[in-house]
Amino acid sequence: MIPSTATLLLALGVTLSGASSIPAGKPIKPNHESSKENANRIFNAIHSAGRQWGSSYYHNGFGFIPAVMPRGTLTFHGDGTNTVPTGPEWLAFEIEHAEGFAQSHKKGFRRPPGGGPPPKDGDSDGQKPLSEDEDTRQELRRRDDGPGGGPGGPGGGPPDGGPGGGRDDDENKNVRGYLQTYQANRGLNLLYIDGTSAGKTSMGTLDSQDLLLRENTTHHDGGGFSEIPRALDLCDLAGEWGFDGVMRMEAGFEIIYCDFSDGLDLISMTRTMMPDDKLVDNSMGSFQWARAVGERYNGLGGDRIRFDFSSMVSALFFPVNITSSDIERPDLVRLESVSQDDLKVIKTYLAKVATQPRRFTVNWQGIVDLIVSRFAQRMSSMASETLSWQYFITEVETITSTWFDAAPLPDDISLKKKRKEVNRTADAIDRCRKHFLRPATIAQKEWSLEDELIFTSIDTVMENVCSTLFSVRELLFDASASAPDSYSDYQPIEEDDNSGLQDATKIGRTVVQRLMEELGWTIWKQAQPCPAEEVLFIAMWPFGKVADHWTPGCRSIDGMRQSRNESYWWMNFGGPGGPRNGGKSKDGDRP
Ligand SMILES: *[C@@H]1O[C@H](CO)[C@@H](O)[C@H](O)[C@H]1NC(C)=O
Ligand SMILES: *[C@@H]1O[C@H](CO)[C@@H](O)[C@H](O)[C@H]1NC(C)=O
Ligand SMILES: *[C@@H]1O[C@H](CO)[C@@H](O)[C@H](O)[C@H]1NC(C)=O
Ligand SMILES: *[C@@H]1O[C@H](CO)[C@@H](O)[C@H](O)[C@H]1NC(C)=O
Repeated sequence: MIPSTATLLLALGVTLSGASSIPAGKPIKPNHESSKENANRIFNAIHSAGRQWGSSYYHNGFGFIPAVMPRGTLTFHGDGTNTVPTGPEWLAFEIEHAEGFAQSHKKGFRRPPGGGPPPKDGDSDGQKPLSEDEDTRQELRRRDDGPGGGPGGPGGGPPDGGPGGGRDDDENKNVRGYLQTYQANRGLNLLYIDGTSAGKTSMGTLDSQDLLLRENTTHHDGGGFSEIPRALDLCDLAGEWGFDGVMRMEAGFEIIYCDFSDGLDLISMTRTMMPDDKLVDNSMGSFQWARAVGERYNGLGGDRIRFDFSSMVSALFFPVNITSSDIERPDLVRLESVSQDDLKVIKTYLAKVATQPRRFTVNWQGIVDLIVSRFAQRMSSMASETLSWQYFITEVETITSTWFDAAPLPDDISLKKKRKEVNRTADAIDRCRKHFLRPATIAQKEWSLEDELIFTSIDTVMENVCSTLFSVRELLFDASASAPDSYSDYQPIEEDDNSGLQDATKIGRTVVQRLMEELGWTIWKQAQPCPAEEVLFIAMWPFGKVADHWTPGCRSIDGMRQSRNESYWWMNFGGPGGPRNGGKSKDGDRP
């Protein structure tokens, strides 16, 4: 818990009485209504934290999560000098990302990083090569300003095409690039800024930094696209709040590291080859770069970062107007309509949480992952127009029955007396809703306010998921004249008596499709290896045919049926001495 938050915010209220978007003198506070209202966005932000895919799709993030990079973790820095920068400078999580900034070139000609940045308009500047002007300025800055290390690492500032510095006699000299590898010699404290927070755009990717953290001002001069002043401002804050740097994302995750003499060991520095000395021209650069960072679509891997979700602070926890003023992109969320006073309240609140000891009470991403992995593929299958109506019903019955306590029947061999009547559907929805949150609620007594707010968001999402799925179940049972009160695993459906069910299936499918739109899980934007009604399959005991072992692949529902004599496993049941071909154990293939 955060004991003094209320006091703190009340104190702030005195100076906030003039703010327009808050009722007379009352400062905004993180609250459960906002967590509910933004439930899907908060759910998705937690799901996408530290993941390249979702953070690229929902590129405007308003969340901050304190994180620890474990001792021993490697990071990479591409630079035009063979010295260890002082800082702030950029460190990449992926080698290719840093290599883009470690290219050697003739002084008069700079190869684009990675063989050319991805051709995006507007926001590609952050990955643009440095002009020789920028090179020069960068070196001057190093000499003059000490910590003003320029771009050169990933996400480094772009050239601004400024005047001056024309070509000179040095044009033919070699500017060598260096790939520097660093190792964390202790746990590094980082402030993760979610979304595509290293995307230098005016679409909102920088709102949480430029408007919220930097208060729409800068305390430093110069630098293309404001990256250098931004880095300096962020490091000022990081220092104040006890972080070693900030973690952001563009095409690759990166760190703006504030002081290279603290927490990092240089473990290797390699000079890159001049382009003329290479056997072939590398025109695969952006492809290789994208492929490397694409490996992180679903997570950074290698235990390279640990997020303290119990200390997550998001502007989405607060009652602020996040509507975009861009009528072309109403889907985007922005902080541009939030008053600077309100943003300061959020920043002050963040400072308070960030400077407390790390909590790690609940790994909320783990909770969210189990939810997404239980429902996402099933919903895709249910939403698919090519899934037969019978299979649609099976999907709905299966996913809901897990939590449905079927009614007793007169013929039951029952050990207990009949209990009082209950609303079985309501009970089932309640079980479904609570199910995935139980690993978190067990520690409820230790929750911070942040944990409570995140809980509210996930619980709101689960309420929607569970009640919607059960409404489809009800719809189907209502449509089925012969539907029994209780669930039975399989009920034969009369050929000519199913038009009602088929109609209900159509409605149910639309309901599921609409639910998916509301939830907006980014996994549904990700190409899957198999169509929605198929499964990627390798022979797993006791399932699978011989072919499923040697050539695993997509299998349809019908394609999964197998007779015993086709089983990959059956032939070798029990190992040496076990029953061979045609062994008699009736249930040998049932788990
Ligand atoms: C929220 O911001 C948008 C965009 O600036 C604006 O059009 C809208 O009127 C604001 N809504 C409220 C309730 O202030
Ligand atoms: C940021 O500052 C500029 C001028 O410096 C101003 O035009 C703009 O409205 C400000 N934006 C916000 C969201 O406060
Ligand atoms: C049982 O609960 C469900 C879900 O809350 C509700 O829709 C339904 O009307 C309830 N049934 C009865 C008989 O109260
Ligand atoms: C398995 O048995 C079925 C009949 O039970 C037969 O049609 C099929 O050819 C057999 N397959 C193999 C691989 O022996």
